[in-house]
Amino acid sequence: MKFNIATIPGDGIGPEVIEESMKILKRIGEVFGHEFSFQEVLAGGVAIDKTGEPLPLETIEICKKSDAVLLGAVGGPKWDSLTGDKRPEKALLGLRGALGLYANIRPAVLHDALKNASPLRSDILGDGIDICVVRELTGGIYFGDRGRRENGKLGVEAYDTEAYSVGEVERIARTAFEIAKQRNNKVTNVDKANVLESSRLWRSVVEEVAKEYPEVTLEHMYVDNAAMQLIRRPQQFDVLVTTNMFGDILSDEASMITGSIGMLPSASLGEGTLGMYEPIHGSAPDIAGENKANPIATILSTAMMLRFSFGLEQEAKAIEDAVTKVLGKDYRTADIMSDGMKLIGTKEMGELVLEELV
Ligand code: NAD
Ligand code: IPM
Ligand code: MN
Repeated sequence: MKFNIATIPGDGIGPEVIEESMKILKRIGEVFGHEFSFQEVLAGGVAIDKTGEPLPLETIEICKKSDAVLLGAVGGPKWDSLTGDKRPEKALLGLRGALGLYANIRPAVLHDALKNASPLRSDILGDGIDICVVRELTGGIYFGDRGRRENGKLGVEAYDTEAYSVGEVERIARTAFEIAKQRNNKVTNVDKANVLESSRLWRSVVEEVAKEYPEVTLEHMYVDNAAMQLIRRPQQFDVLVTTNMFGDILSDEASMITGSIGMLPSASLGEGTLGMYEPIHGSAPDIAGENKANPIATILSTAMMLRFSFGLEQEAKAIEDAVTKVLGKDYRTADIMSDGMKLIGTKEMGELVLEELV
């Protein structure tokens, strides 16, 4: 089969991790007899530099016509003084919105071999961590009304608005329950219903959707408690469903307890098969261009692409197995380094995964 992939290397370590992931996809194509064609498009800071816009129209058009989008990361200090719609991050939000990608799936799995890389004690890690964060991606405070206005004596104030409609909550809740059915039948809804009206509506809609899934256990947790429980007893979680901003924050936290943010992949999905796949980390300006970034989050994102957009389960599994095998050896990028391991860089890690893909 032939699959068209739009690639967005973006900024900072983005191009470095995308390069390794494309090598892996090419090898998968050879081994399993598929043709992956890549079309590189501009988004983020690099697009601002070349076109003046963070998200050129052409990029949206090409992504819409592709079978899947693979994105590295956008943003960096060079563009930090820009505001609002001029920022590189606007490209990401714009693409998520334009492609209708309302469900962001972020699996946080602790590989056995990385127990020493997790900052949590081994008795807390127990027999492992396997959490799936389901983050709403095209609504909430990220997409709500915002601006600045006068506030009398107190001067100018800035505001951002959190709003969720019944339909938006229904579809993300359904995604979470469907995923829970494939896993351990438990959904933890994370909100701030003790304070926010949007959370109270969110919670009641999640409860309605739960009635369609009697086999799945639903529990509710306030976001502050959830942040604490992730560290205290991560094993209590199976699927965690939450809003755009809470999901952003909790998934970075979940990544660290599995060893590093450099390990966590993501899939952003909508109604059809078109999806965008990206690591959850950013452009890591502090290590960009130094061959230090861990490419595994992006490599695992390509596995999610094969599974969710192309229906290639065996091929997805081959990538995940190759990563597990490599982690079973003594080589580590700096972010997952522990005693007795040998330090390697981005390219070497990509090469090791490639070697496992026979
Ligand atoms: P970041 O995720 O880029 O970096 C946070 C820390 O994690 C840094 O110390 C970095 O070196 C480390 N890190 C991140 N990815 C790593 C990897 N693959 N291997 C090893 N270490 C890794 O977050 P930040 O510093 O808050 O943001 C930097 C820029 O990236 C900002 O402009 C931000 O807006 C942007 N950003 C983009 C995305 C995206 O494109 N999806 C996501 C998050 C942040
Ligand atoms: C992420 C990032 C983005 C987000 C930023 C860069 C807009 O942090 O993908 O997690 O907040 O969604
Ligand atoms: Mn984030």
